[in-house]
Amino acid sequence: MPDTATDFAAIRRPVAVARGLPNAHYTDPVVHAQERDRLFFDVWAGLAVAADVPATGDAVPVDFLGVPLLLIRDRSGQVRVFQNICRHRGMILVPEPRRIEGAIRCPYHSWCYGTDGRLVATPHVGGPGMNTHAAVDKATLGLIEVRTHVWRDVVWVNLSGTAPAFENTHADLIARWSDFDAPLLHGGADSRFTLTVRSNWKLAVENFCESYHLPWVHPGLNAYSRLEDHYNIEAPGLYSGQGSTLYRQIRGPAGGTFPDFPGLPDRWDTAAEYVAVYPNVLLGTHRDHAFAIVLQPLSQHETAEHVHLYYATAETDPSLRAANAAQWKTVFEEDIFVVEGMQAGRAAPGFDGGRFSPAMDGPTHCFHDWVVGRFAPA
Ligand code: FES
Ligand SMILES: [Fe+2]
Repeated sequence: MPDTATDFAAIRRPVAVARGLPNAHYTDPVVHAQERDRLFFDVWAGLAVAADVPATGDAVPVDFLGVPLLLIRDRSGQVRVFQNICRHRGMILVPEPRRIEGAIRCPYHSWCYGTDGRLVATPHVGGPGMNTHAAVDKATLGLIEVRTHVWRDVVWVNLSGTAPAFENTHADLIARWSDFDAPLLHGGADSRFTLTVRSNWKLAVENFCESYHLPWVHPGLNAYSRLEDHYNIEAPGLYSGQGSTLYRQIRGPAGGTFPDFPGLPDRWDTAAEYVAVYPNVLLGTHRDHAFAIVLQPLSQHETAEHVHLYYATAETDPSLRAANAAQWKTVFEEDIFVVEGMQAGRAAPGFDGGRFSPAMDGPTHCFHDWVVGRFAPA
């Protein structure tokens, strides 16, 4: 059994003497199912981005660790999330992304729902030609809504409905990045891509947290953003990552840059920060652009990484935007062999969770401490 008290204690020690999570947290479907409840459903987790449903009526089905959810922009323009099932016989309502013009019509017996989830029509429910029945109270049979909050364009969901309000949970990070409290404008079709990796989702978090690997895995990045220009970010129980003090803007052939976010203090001229917000959202912020990566666990050993790039203005230079997306895609692709290699390594029964560099791996240890804390609260 992986989750013995001994394992927990070893993981929660100070970083210099701690061990990492045992193999089962990366390979065992039973542990994966336990993580689903404790690390995703009971907290605020990333589902998608609001830019996935840009127009009124846009509806996108999303598999959230096996739970069929429906992301939709309702008639009033609000982003909402429902369980993607009909209240009649539980049929999947919307199997493919599409724009809802009128109502959401169940393909089975044609019960219809508004984009706000209300049950609006139940044809022949009382018999041929009888579209109502006293026993079927429409007011109580709307779609099951999931608690939702949009921040930095990420659609965060709390499936259990029991987490503290998002603004309370993440007050620390909201304050940390309050300088960037301006609209993030998605770069559009050329500013989104998905990478699917043969790895547990946590290895993607762990690799994103730390800058230790930059010299070897990202030689291009390291040429202008060296190890010594980075610092660790650790907010126990919430998020961890790294910052750089030597951010340089991407420039076009004629020296053009993206516009800055408005009103930034000088320190952001050359600073950038990258944090993994537990469990599954990886965020980056810079003076002139931002990114959000939503990790979608497909199984215990496969993860989709949905990457989105944002700017301060709606109009940006298309060629510069494409160059920026290509640059980030290269960086994130460079990380694939290590997350897949670590996943393959978890098949070795001799691995004991590994050791950490006390100087460089604090953010990763911080994440493991959160994972274990949710399994065995102190
Ligand atoms: S299952 Fe949807 S209308 Fe019957
Ligand atoms: Fe990396």
